[in-house]
Amino acid sequence: MTETSERVLLQRPLRTAATVLALIALFAVPLWGQEAATDFKQNCMSCHTVGGGRLTGPDLKNVAQRRDRGWLTTFIQDPKSVIDASDAYAQELVKSSRGVVMPTLPAMTKARVEALLTLIDAESKLEKSQFAGVQISERPFTPRDVEIGQGIFMGTIATKNGGPSCMSCHTVQGIKLFGGGTLAPDLTTVFERYQGRKTLSTWLSAPATPTMQSAFKKQALEGEEILALVAYFQSTLARNPEDVSAERLNFILVGLAGALLVMGLFDVIWNKRLRTVRRALVQERKLETVNE
Ligand code: HEC
Ligand code: HEC
Repeated sequence: MTETSERVLLQRPLRTAATVLALIALFAVPLWGQEAATDFKQNCMSCHTVGGGRLTGPDLKNVAQRRDRGWLTTFIQDPKSVIDASDAYAQELVKSSRGVVMPTLPAMTKARVEALLTLIDAESKLEKSQFAGVQISERPFTPRDVEIGQGIFMGTIATKNGGPSCMSCHTVQGIKLFGGGTLAPDLTTVFERYQGRKTLSTWLSAPATPTMQSAFKKQALEGEEILALVAYFQSTLARNPEDVSAERLNFILVGLAGALLVMGLFDVIWNKRLRTVRRALVQERKLETVNE
């Protein structure tokens, strides 16, 4: 073995370890000590409701009546191994989920699962759980919906809760003339990537990624707004998409960059504020000196 290849072999695991640590620091650490409700919203609600019907995964209302806690705990911690162990119930679940296997989520400790299951039990008893999902009408889309969706996307129509326009970060094919943001993924084919109306709607009602979450946490989109946006994204599907797979590769990087950018922005705003105050103070001092 040559010296170089030896060094490369040694460096690679180190680099991988560093990357993994950085990712854990960015995403996993803020999760610890988080309330179960926030945890569910951020990590489960993109696929599950409690009492709102199935999405990618089954409706979790009264799941405790279907399986005991031991089984559920093992399953949530490591879905794949339960399915692979030819557990008949789990395989039936996969079949009814059109073959989608629930992902193994990072840092899913026993304590965290316990808290989540207790929460799901409590929410199952309520007439309407906070996790029933935003109620979005299932009426057919109209051309007017598409128009409103485009308006919200471009920021010419304000949302009720005052969220930012999508176009400040995203673009879709055919809107380039006006210039869309390139910070975030191109949304031309997002309707397809998110498997259609219901899952995309739910995703938008509780975005599960860092930048989207921080942008819309306090300015959530309303049911009718989501319906219009989804109608718009269905219409953009027809616009000859670029290579989507390359975009997919960039996805995580863009997410990371977005998170960093938001942090950076706060930093800049904060610094600027300090500087403005400081500048005023300095100018005052200068005037005083001149006057003396
Ligand atoms: C990417 C989608 C996805 C996410 C995110 C997800 N799940 Fe699942 N979940 C599934 C699917 C799909 C199934 C059905 C089994 C299968 O196909 O793997 C499932 C099954 C389950 C089941 C068994 C349901 C039953 O009817 O017996 C439980 C419990 C569960 N998930 C809890 C959770 C919890 C808690 C979280 C968040 C920490 C979560 N899931 C996140 C997709 C997801
Ligand atoms: C502050 C910038 C910003 C704004 C404003 C914004 N997004 Fe995003 N969005 C992102 C970033 C960055 C991502 C990539 C994942 C992440 O980090 O959140 C993303 C991801 C998404 C995704 C998932 C895309 C995929 O390819 O998987 C959808 C859908 C989405 N945004 C829709 C919207 C809609 C609809 C709006 C307007 C109502 C909007 N976004 C406004 C930054 C933004």
